[in-house]
Amino acid sequence: MLTVLIWCFLVPMTAQSETPDTVSISVQNHSGPLQEGRSYTLQCDVFNVAPVAALTVSWLWKGEMIQTQTYDDDLTKTPENVSSTWEITAFRNDSNDMITCLTILDPKQDGPSEQVNKSAAYQVIVHYAPKFTDEYDSVEVVTGGNVSFGCSAEGNPPPEVKCKYTVAINARETTRGRQHTVSITRATSANGGIYNCVATNTVGTATRQITLTITPLGHTTGVNYCLILVVIPVIIIIIASIAQKNVVG
Ligand SMILES: *[C@@H]1O[C@H](CO)[C@@H](O)[C@H](O)[C@H]1NC(C)=O
Ligand SMILES: *[C@@H]1O[C@H](CO)[C@@H](O)[C@H](O)[C@H]1NC(C)=O
Ligand SMILES: *[C@@H]1O[C@H](CO)[C@@H](O)[C@H](O)[C@H]1NC(C)=O
Ligand SMILES: *[C@@H]1O[C@H](CO)[C@@H](O)[C@H](O)[C@H]1NC(C)=O
Ligand SMILES: *[C@@H]1O[C@H](CO)[C@@H](O)[C@H](O)[C@H]1NC(C)=O
Repeated sequence: MLTVLIWCFLVPMTAQSETPDTVSISVQNHSGPLQEGRSYTLQCDVFNVAPVAALTVSWLWKGEMIQTQTYDDDLTKTPENVSSTWEITAFRNDSNDMITCLTILDPKQDGPSEQVNKSAAYQVIVHYAPKFTDEYDSVEVVTGGNVSFGCSAEGNPPPEVKCKYTVAINARETTRGRQHTVSITRATSANGGIYNCVATNTVGTATRQITLTITPLGHTTGVNYCLILVVIPVIIIIIASIAQKNVVG
């Protein structure tokens, strides 16, 4: 009887400190990539740790401590499960950052001091809707000329871009990496008009309109050719003959 009493009394008093079985990070009510602009609660679960009053749970983001939590009020000596939470609003520039949860158990008694445990790193992946990167919205080409214009969009996951237009026979779209290009060879007046481009990924859609104007090989260009082929040689001849006259005279 007495031994039982002593045992009951002693066991809680001599309870050993116990490092956590596991430390892990999860996102509350969510799995998979985060969506830009939304807020999430990350949760660090610490399983079977004692005594909780000697525990500090810290959050590390890119190696810097962003939050620390202690459980001083909890006087339970037996192993317990505790958790700490951290709110984040996802931005694209957070993508690929690593977040870890660190526990420090410091019983401030005899025996080993400051035992440190770490969670596996949580990699932040932020998805966001597509956005077209080129600014211009009109392109010009002369009849018979070749033209190509960029129609690239950025987003995560990388968006798929498709353009709609009337004449396709001499037009084609190519995608190289992130660059999406519409190319037209030997443009005819039928190629003129509006090119409607749509970029899509799992988060959303963006649209862009590009107006292609076909300028006929008409007077303006004709005048230019006239200048180069006729007027300039005539001027040169006149200058040359004046110079010659001066030399002779
Ligand atoms: C979100 O998760 C927390 C903790 O896991 C839970 O208490 C809460 O009920 C959940 N909320 C919803 C809307 O599922
Ligand atoms: C802690 O959580 C684990 C897993 O959910 C469970 O098996 C264990 O009994 C819990 N411990 C305590 C002290 O609640
Ligand atoms: C990330 O982007 C957000 C919003 O655009 C901005 O407030 C924040 O300062 C940026 N952080 C870094 C590290 O550039
Ligand atoms: C926690 O750290 C201690 C030493 O500090 C180690 O013995 C133990 O295995 C670690 N536990 C986990 C789950 O990593
Ligand atoms: C236009 O492209 C076609 C096919 O690539 C080529 O044969 C032609 O010479 C190009 N025309 C001009 C003006 O560059």
